[in-house]
Amino acid sequence: MSDTHPSNDPAGTRDDIEAVDAAVASEEDSPNIDAPAIDPPETDPVPAPFEVKFASRVDRLPPYMFGRINSSLYQKRRAGDDVIDLGMGNPSDAPEPAVVEKLQAASSDPNNHGYSKSNGIANLRREVASKYYRKYGVNLDPDHEIISCLGSKEGFSHMCLALMGPGDTAIIPSPYFPVHMYGVILASGNVVSLDVADPDKFLRNVAYTCENLTPVPKLLIVNYPHNPSSAVIELDFFVEVVRLAKKYGFLVIHDFAYADVAFDGYVPPSFLAAPGAKDVGVEFTTMSKGYNMAGWRVGFCAGNADMVRGLGTIKGYYDYGMFQAIQIAAIVALRETEAAVEKQSLVYQGRRDVLVNGLRRLGWKVDPPKAGMFLWAEVPEPWKSRMSTMDFALKLLEEGNVAVSPGTGFGAAGEGFLRMSLVENEHRLRQAVRQISKCLAEK
Ligand SMILES: Cc1ncc(COP(=O)(O)O)c(C=O)c1O
Repeated sequence: MSDTHPSNDPAGTRDDIEAVDAAVASEEDSPNIDAPAIDPPETDPVPAPFEVKFASRVDRLPPYMFGRINSSLYQKRRAGDDVIDLGMGNPSDAPEPAVVEKLQAASSDPNNHGYSKSNGIANLRREVASKYYRKYGVNLDPDHEIISCLGSKEGFSHMCLALMGPGDTAIIPSPYFPVHMYGVILASGNVVSLDVADPDKFLRNVAYTCENLTPVPKLLIVNYPHNPSSAVIELDFFVEVVRLAKKYGFLVIHDFAYADVAFDGYVPPSFLAAPGAKDVGVEFTTMSKGYNMAGWRVGFCAGNADMVRGLGTIKGYYDYGMFQAIQIAAIVALRETEAAVEKQSLVYQGRRDVLVNGLRRLGWKVDPPKAGMFLWAEVPEPWKSRMSTMDFALKLLEEGNVAVSPGTGFGAAGEGFLRMSLVENEHRLRQAVRQISKCLAEK
């Protein structure tokens, strides 16, 4: 027996063993066909050029909108230019030392190196439940209403796969964080996107769409604090979402990625705090943003037990869960570092003020966001009328050494806007404003 046989593999699961047993059984059952020998040809025919054909779902994906910006940024950095990068929302500050120390200790324990549970270890799910109770007064059953994900994006996309199929429609915000659109598209669903700027209008449009679309949408995807626009809402918004969901029979996913990054005393509400929310939907949270753990890939899905189970079914086929040492360190982060998370929000708030004030001094129209990691800034005139948002973003990069995300990376509704992320420190943000000012002065 070879070393790689699953039954010799200490991490081999019951599923692996059953799959091998089934394969052996089907070999025994298969008819013994007496196929005639085939004479090999004297010379092989000239092969046609080998072509890899992707599945049609891949053809439904558009070219990556940030490709031009990223390749120019890469070339500039290789040439030695000091580019101030306000493009991606990739936190640049370190996680708390106690969390990193726990990761180091837990990774020294040989017991933590096998496959983990694909829905997350029980103590981690319990810790998520206690955070929900502490912060939002929401009661969750950690065994049936919470599942861990390899970052919330993984959980979100697999939830789309669990819920959506051909002929199903999801309503999403516009402009949109790309996976809100393409998670549905990759699951073969259709999308209706509704303007997110005014929450009341958004809800009216949800009701209008449900009244006029046949079949009615199966899923509503919402995301507050919103990326990229920084739009925020109060709890009454979710109360109305639950009412509409029950009236029209759609499911709800709330992407709550920026739950922990808020300013000036604003506390972003949890969808699950709306009465009846668990009847109709789930909420995704993450440790990427508030805890500075983006590369660790720790996220959670909580709420409706059937939806959580559906996600668990898909994940059971696709992954073996998160490295256990990471899960153990994540417990420490959730349990012990709340004060650091609040402090990190103050850091983003300070950066927000520096960037907003600087851009306003240049005459830009920009509202200070109440939460999230981004400024959603209108491209100023005369540039807005003179060139596309993509060309303006490339100009800032090529002539000003400041990288930003053109709003069109978040759909056509983003034309005329830039998303600027607050991941550089205040000194670098002041420098960015000076470089933007200089680059726009040189007509
Ligand atoms: C709205 C939104 N959802 C989800 C994510 C992904 O988070 P995670 O790192 O947990 O996958 C991001 C990250 O940029 C985001 O902005």
